[in-house]
Amino acid sequence: MSEVPTLEDLEARVGDLNGKRVLVRTDFNVPLDDNGAITDDFRIRAALPTIEWLTERGANVVTASHLGRPKGAPDPRYSMDPVRERLAELAPGVGLLENLRFDPGETANDPVFVSTLVDGIDAYVNDAFGASHRSHASIVGPPKFVPSAAGRLLQNEVDVLLSLRDKPKRPFVAILGGAKISDKLGVVEALLDVVDSLIVGGAMCFTFFAAQGKPIGDSLFEPDHVETCKRLLVEAGERGKTIHLPDDITGVDANGEYATFGSRLPDGAKGFDIGPGSAALFTDVIMDARMVFWNGPMGMFEDERFAAGTQTVAQAMADTKAFTVVGGGDSAAALAQFKLDDEIDHVSTGGGASLEILENGDLPGLQALREGTS
Ligand code: 3PG
Repeated sequence: MSEVPTLEDLEARVGDLNGKRVLVRTDFNVPLDDNGAITDDFRIRAALPTIEWLTERGANVVTASHLGRPKGAPDPRYSMDPVRERLAELAPGVGLLENLRFDPGETANDPVFVSTLVDGIDAYVNDAFGASHRSHASIVGPPKFVPSAAGRLLQNEVDVLLSLRDKPKRPFVAILGGAKISDKLGVVEALLDVVDSLIVGGAMCFTFFAAQGKPIGDSLFEPDHVETCKRLLVEAGERGKTIHLPDDITGVDANGEYATFGSRLPDGAKGFDIGPGSAALFTDVIMDARMVFWNGPMGMFEDERFAAGTQTVAQAMADTKAFTVVGGGDSAAALAQFKLDDEIDHVSTGGGASLEILENGDLPGLQALREGTS
């Protein structure tokens, strides 16, 4: 991650950090259950190496994060209190500001809000990889005013994800799932440049099926993107890349009964997962790869009838000798659900951020650190 200042650069610039007040932007946007309890503290634990590096040097650390998507005003559902309690257990004495998105200045990147954030602060560290694709006040503002650096988590995430683009081990396979192709078109285009093959599962496969002229029953798809999927299928062929689509699907038939179909769905059918044949085919591709990136579940894995495709892919990710990277969000949640997260080489804390860095090779949060105060 050349050019972006590290913690060592920050220490060299600021001098002794003992007693210095350091603002650390973290991504503590953790999942909460209906009672407001944290269901997975992965993102809090992931920030500890940076926090500890600073506190070991006597810095007075104040962390700041968003939680959920409150609408620019205090909303008790998104209070940082549960995070504050967990942080106090993991890193006693470290402060945490209230949810940054309670102030409309955060998402608007308002300079007035930036000035309140840096008031009394000696240095700023961005360790919020998962939010570094957002040009929000706490991400891009502070480096203009105080000496700043990337934290360990941000640095490591960027190093791993950029290595996929810049130093791919071949065969390099990307697996994309989830509901919406529209969220991932840019990354599909960018990945076609670097991968040897692309596996597509999740509801987004139905937009590709529609592009191939196959009937999809009443399955979810995005009519506005059928033409783009047609173009991607042609471009992949021209560039000698394979797009692997499922050849069987599980879901429900027109009567709502569980059923397995081929890749042509009958009227009224709805597909909710890749079928067992596709899961086996995708497993073979993953086992033969030397590098695999996975973002997005293969189906509606929250419903156990439709979890098999995602579980099989997760198991293949755990079993393959390839270097494996999973891009945050739902696929990381799936790995945790199947207790396979420890078997993956790198589980990213960022969903959108991991896709954006693969697509663009850069993030607004990194640019801001690079430009810095001078
Ligand atoms: C995430 O959960 O991906 C990050 O915390 C960013 O959250 P956002 O999509 O609400 O900006």
